[in-house]
Amino acid sequence: ANEKESLFVVSNYASKYFKDQMHNSQAGKAIGLSYFKERGFREDIIEKFELGYSPDEWSAFTDEALKNGHSIEFLEKSGLTIVKEEKKFDRFKGRVMFPIHNLSGRVLGFGGRILKTEAKAAKYLNSPESEIYHKSKVLYGIYFAKKEIIQQDNCYLVEGYTDVISLHQSGVENVVSSSGTSLTEGQIRLIKRFTENITILYDGDAAGLKASFRGIDMILQEGMNVRVVLFPDGEDPDSYAKNHSSNELIAYIKEHAQDFIRFKTSVLLEEVGNDPIKKAELIKEIVASIAIIPDQIKRSIYTQECSSLLDIGEQALINETNKILRGKA
Ligand code: CTP
Ligand code: MN
Ligand code: MN
Ligand code: MN
Ligand code: MN
Repeated sequence: ANEKESLFVVSNYASKYFKDQMHNSQAGKAIGLSYFKERGFREDIIEKFELGYSPDEWSAFTDEALKNGHSIEFLEKSGLTIVKEEKKFDRFKGRVMFPIHNLSGRVLGFGGRILKTEAKAAKYLNSPESEIYHKSKVLYGIYFAKKEIIQQDNCYLVEGYTDVISLHQSGVENVVSSSGTSLTEGQIRLIKRFTENITILYDGDAAGLKASFRGIDMILQEGMNVRVVLFPDGEDPDSYAKNHSSNELIAYIKEHAQDFIRFKTSVLLEEVGNDPIKKAELIKEIVASIAIIPDQIKRSIYTQECSSLLDIGEQALINETNKILRGKA
């Protein structure tokens, strides 16, 4: 059989195994399932996302997979098993498991979260690159979101696995995660197959803010429209959902979604204050984003908006934009 198919088969087996462990083993129930329940995840949502638990033993999963006829070759290639000096180890030992599905719902890989956050190991561990799992082309949640993205003609983009899950639990299903802050062109193009509109809902911290600025320019580059919701300091969509009702979360997103010009302007103005030199830099920073937009009519609309938001003549902005565009040509 071909390599990709073998990787899909072993990933599917692993997903079923982790799920079974969580629901049917002593440790799985006591540790894994109760972890998700303490986070406030409902049974139906745990089921929908096929969450699981990988036992806290060196090779429990690998042993069981081998016993069931899976070959060490593909266990290793999928990254589920690590082979070291002829010993076999479970990569995701002792973690709660988030299977990552492709567009048609097949499992490509996993994210595994550590339970004790004081531990030195990384909070999340992901499957390594393989013939079927390319981190830069995958969007967590796309399988569960695609229908609603088309329906709403908009896609919410979050950082984390749990943000996707919490939004679904709140009834917001047009949401995918970039699995961190390093959004890629491949991920944006995947969204573009379903909508031209993205609303960024990154974490309310310095990293999330920085990644939102970077994401804006990348999305504009693809000729798409981008809005941003800024979450309160230290909050992400999941933590906000935990402390508020679904209606409050949905209202927060509606009320705080700003188009990219307003978002950039308000964030930057806060840093600038009344300093005219800094204000000039700010204007250049915003014009730099406008110049990225491929469509001339959209550029002109955003130029008008920028002009009124910053109280600066439109012609000056047009000249500045043209300067950048000529530089690129
Ligand atoms: N991430 C990762 N590896 C890490 C940390 C983060 O791959 N060591 C990715 C994960 O996909 C994670 C996302 O980046 O979901 C966002 O990171 P972060 O905001 O730190 O985690 P949360 O998703 O908020 O996770 P939790 O609420 O469980 O702490
Ligand atoms: Mn729906
Ligand atoms: Mn974060
Ligand atoms: Mn987060
Ligand atoms: Mn979080």
